Amino acid sequence: MLIDNYGRPWLKLRIVVNSVCNYRCIFCHFEGQGKFLSRELSAEDIGFVTSVAKDLGVDDFKITGGEPLLRKDIVKVVDEISRIGPKDLSLTTNGYFLDIYAEDLLSHGLRRLNISLHSLDRRKYSFITGVDALNKVLENIDYVSKLGFRQIKLNVVALRGLNTNEIPMMIRFAAKYGFVLQLIELMPMGEGFPVFARYYDDLSDIINWLNKHGKLLGTRKDLHNRPLYEVDGVRVEIVKNYNNPTFCAGCTTMRLTSDGKLKTCLYKEPVVDLWPYIRTRDREGLMKAMIYANSLRKPNFVEGSSGDLSRIRIKVRIGNLVY
Ligand code: 5AD
Ligand code: SF4
Repeated sequence: MLIDNYGRPWLKLRIVVNSVCNYRCIFCHFEGQGKFLSRELSAEDIGFVTSVAKDLGVDDFKITGGEPLLRKDIVKVVDEISRIGPKDLSLTTNGYFLDIYAEDLLSHGLRRLNISLHSLDRRKYSFITGVDALNKVLENIDYVSKLGFRQIKLNVVALRGLNTNEIPMMIRFAAKYGFVLQLIELMPMGEGFPVFARYYDDLSDIINWLNKHGKLLGTRKDLHNRPLYEVDGVRVEIVKNYNNPTFCAGCTTMRLTSDGKLKTCLYKEPVVDLWPYIRTRDREGLMKAMIYANSLRKPNFVEGSSGDLSRIRIKVRIGNLVY
């Protein structure tokens, strides 16, 4: 297992498989990569990268995009990764195409799904995503809930004055299906930057509500020290990623961009280009490039400094951690 200069192990790889999407979410961060990239790694390329990462101790992979299900060969991508026998393999989707792919994805080794569901109100959903598809996505959610995935998480980006009043309703919705609810703080990245001043919510009201109505189960030491709550039998995970040294201190992940670069942090450089080694299937060169990238990892937000994008600093107490 590789450890960086700040004592943080590298355990997970986030794989951005494309940069296109059928949605136009008002806050899309494009996973920190360009909107239109000239090259797209093939399924075999991705399988090669993950097999080398696995040799370095990374065995938890998340497929993301763009919208990953817009890749016609998404089942092959999953197949290539699951072939190497990872501990975990999950995929983040807006849910629109799940009726087409979910069964095949499951049978080829996908374990978990993250489905973005930013509102249960049709009008708000359309406003946030740019697509009037809430009913279709709800039907797809109902369908995939019966297929036997190990876990399904609903991703909700908290938007002040827009969906933050829906959290209790979301919890009831998640309870009905036995899903996990993941509440994500808005990041000022990509399209998230211009809407940040208007919709940013620091989650403090939600956390106070959770402290009152739920129970703090602990924090995820394996991922960003994320607090975990339980409310009415639903697990609620808090992704408080902005201006938060506690979050960065627990970062165990890097990102593979869809054109074959390893990004050490969502927010910034450095980026190490893996393409020369991927193209030539140079295992040793790829391994060295990954070890080098790991040595460049650095927390973006650290105590006493405000990080690159800092404008505000709000503290919330969760158990014995200050966020
Ligand atoms: N801030 C926070 N979350 C975001 N997502 C996309 N853009 C942003 C942003 N600016 C969410 C998506 C998806 C997950 C991968 O990240 O909605 O659920
Ligand atoms: Fe961006 Fe995801 Fe929304 Fe597509 S569904 S626009 S990738 S946030």
